[in-house]
Amino acid sequence: MIFPKQIEILDSTLREGEQTPGVSFSVDQKIALAKRLDTFGVDFIELGHPAVSPDVYESVEALNSLSLNAFKVAHGRAAISDIDDVVAIGVPWMGIFFGTSALSLKHKFNVTKTEALNRIETAVKYGKDNGLKLRFTAEDASRTDIDFLIQVGQLAQNSGANRFSLADTVGCLTPTQTKVIVSRMVSELDIPVNIHCHNDFGMATANALSALEAGARCVDVSVNGLGERVGLPPLAEVVVALVNIYDVNNNWNLSMIPELTEMVQSFSKLDSNANQPIVGKNAFTHKAGLHVKAVVKEPKSYEAISPVSVKRKRHFIIDKYTGKVALINKFEDLELNVHPEEINIILEEIKSHPEKVDWKDKELISLIKSMGIKV
Ligand code: COA
Ligand code: ZN
Repeated sequence: MIFPKQIEILDSTLREGEQTPGVSFSVDQKIALAKRLDTFGVDFIELGHPAVSPDVYESVEALNSLSLNAFKVAHGRAAISDIDDVVAIGVPWMGIFFGTSALSLKHKFNVTKTEALNRIETAVKYGKDNGLKLRFTAEDASRTDIDFLIQVGQLAQNSGANRFSLADTVGCLTPTQTKVIVSRMVSELDIPVNIHCHNDFGMATANALSALEAGARCVDVSVNGLGERVGLPPLAEVVVALVNIYDVNNNWNLSMIPELTEMVQSFSKLDSNANQPIVGKNAFTHKAGLHVKAVVKEPKSYEAISPVSVKRKRHFIIDKYTGKVALINKFEDLELNVHPEEINIILEEIKSHPEKVDWKDKELISLIKSMGIKV
């Protein structure tokens, strides 16, 4: 599938990523990450929300002084003081957000729709008058009445916003619903539409891609999917899907994915799950004998993504699911000359130890020796 227009990636690791429970990055860590994200080739980097705390303010200042190719965006409420912070620091872009769903209007702000529109208009115009490039985000857009959402989008656009962002704040959209809402907003607005998905139902990546299919220009991601609750679409998943499934080539430096993952794991003190796509320990590890046999002949048999393309290595596990060819392959790797008849005997022994889930090379060699097999 070929997208008709330009696709952009906004990385929010430094902003939303720091909203992950248990996470607080130092200023130096943020600087190191921003530099590497820039080299990776993201289009926008969200620096943070200066009003949050003195250290976030300081980090936005420090990040803003870096020379980066990516556009720098600060985050803030539809409030004069937040906009003043961004203007004072001199960040060129600001993402102004305001909750637009009935739930937000009633419980967060206790305002009518008209009052909400006034606040949005005032904030966007104020930001514009102060020279900012603006992305207006309708927070909780996915639970906002569509006619009101269109009204908000058009108001933001007419007040000077350069982008309109739809936030699926509680991650409740499906890919089909995402497509409907994004297509509608794309057709109602002249400014590019961005999408901010959350992973509460495990659909963040699918929804982000669906939004791009529907004409969204820019998708928010974070390294390792960090973010509030269960986070955002992971950078690796979105970008690798764009390259492999959609044939988008934005010159992203895919070989940096492991490095970014490890940096964020170390800074956030949160490990990626073993079975996480692309970056997880198991992402390129094959276990079942039939799979290994096929992969040895042709890796594409059981690999949709080339491990080399993302600087990962292919591994094979030896355990009770192993087959003959997988074991022969292992012995060839170890340069052990095992007679074909003995392979079956060794395999039987391996299969009689279901408690051993990953035979290491040394253990296999000891096993062979203990069985009196000469190699
Ligand atoms: N636009 C304008 N005002 C908003 C808003 C928005 N999008 N969202 C919330 N507000 C207002 C609320 O109405 C409330 O105003 P009130 O004090 O007049 O009632 C205030 O902001 C938020 O309340 P509270 O969090 O209790 O205020 P605070 O002054 O102690 O702290 C922050 C405000 C932003 C500094 C603090 O909540 C914080 O550090 N938050 C982290 C960032 C964050 O929440 N990000 C969400 C990103 S989606
Ligand atoms: Zn979010």
